[in-house]
Amino acid sequence: MDKIVIEGGRPLKGKIKIGGSKNAALPLMAASLLTSDKVILTNLPKLCDVKTMDSLLEVLGVQTTLLMNRISMQAKKIKRFEAPYELVRKMRASILVLGPLVARNGKARVSLPGGCAIGARPINLHLKALEDMGAKVKLAEGYVEASCSRLKGARIVFDVVTVTGTENIMMAAALAKGQTIIENAAREPEVLDLANLLNKMGAQISGAGTAVITINGVEKLHGATHRVIADRIEAGTYMIAAAMTRGDVMIEDVETEYVAALIQKLKDIGATIETYANKVRVVGPKEILPTDIKTAPYPGFATDLQAQFMTLLTLANGTSTITETIFENRFMHVPELVRMGADLQVEGNTVIIRGVDKLQSAPVMASDLRASA
Ligand code: EPZ
Repeated sequence: MDKIVIEGGRPLKGKIKIGGSKNAALPLMAASLLTSDKVILTNLPKLCDVKTMDSLLEVLGVQTTLLMNRISMQAKKIKRFEAPYELVRKMRASILVLGPLVARNGKARVSLPGGCAIGARPINLHLKALEDMGAKVKLAEGYVEASCSRLKGARIVFDVVTVTGTENIMMAAALAKGQTIIENAAREPEVLDLANLLNKMGAQISGAGTAVITINGVEKLHGATHRVIADRIEAGTYMIAAAMTRGDVMIEDVETEYVAALIQKLKDIGATIETYANKVRVVGPKEILPTDIKTAPYPGFATDLQAQFMTLLTLANGTSTITETIFENRFMHVPELVRMGADLQVEGNTVIIRGVDKLQSAPVMASDLRASA
């Protein structure tokens, strides 16, 4: 069991450059399945998930060269159309090969991702949308099989906002026959980044970044080179850490628009924020003020920053609340923070946070990626 040992008690000072976005890089890599030409990504983050997606693409027949922060991928032809359980269980985002495989290859067999620390995380909306586009979908032995000689454009209305659902269908629709309209689409910057790459590859996508995305299918896509956008959640995590430790940190390579909801909340709790072209400086307050947070799809307050902000609020001078509306089980960090001396009370999907003067060190369990940070 890996562990990280932290000697606490020091304000964070200095500057840090943010890496490429994990949640942009993974769909961007999956998009390489849509063409027989070479797709090159730069500013790629160095992460286990990127290595897992690289391994999965190789299993499917993509020739890849992964060097530091750059990958070149070429799917001359799809060798296998199955994403095996041993890879998918390591990384839920493997589901992102489903749409591209059906679109390029007419057939896909992807292991169901299974739940994870923060909830059941079903993919019913991904599958329903593919059926609406003419795919035959069936579940067998823990795998989802989808097949269709050529997907056809459809009007898709997602019951709930789904980020990878929007990404899967956008990639599938790029090569479908006719027009697809996705309503109640996810507006996350990572969705826009994927649309930008697809359009560079010859796709005809408009409206990405808004709730209605229109895709006019084309016959073929060609190669492209693309820089992965910076990771707004990594940036937000360091911004909160600076504010929580009475620090003074300059965070570089951050699109301040992408962290607007967080900046507002950091100002509400008393932090000083200076924004520049593509960097932001955070100076932590002497006294942290309480506030109330409700997570929401972008541009609302990101669920991926909920655990980090809760940690900050455990030190506020007063009582705060956080309501998690995206995932049904994203409070695994609550008992861990209580072990460190926080005063937290879970009431359904809301946590009441009564501020304490200091937290104490303690052995704690890392649950999901963001709570671990
Ligand atoms: C993406 O997950 C991110 N992962 C998550 O980041 C992020 O927390 C989440 O979006 C919400 O912003 C990647 O982009 C790789 P959803 P995703 O589909 O797409 C329900 C991290 O730490 N739903 O937007 O899997 C679902 O249960 C990770 O980097 C259905 O009911 O999330 C959830 O309640 C954690 N049926 C809600 O929608 C479906 O078919 C939002 O899920 C799909 C989703």
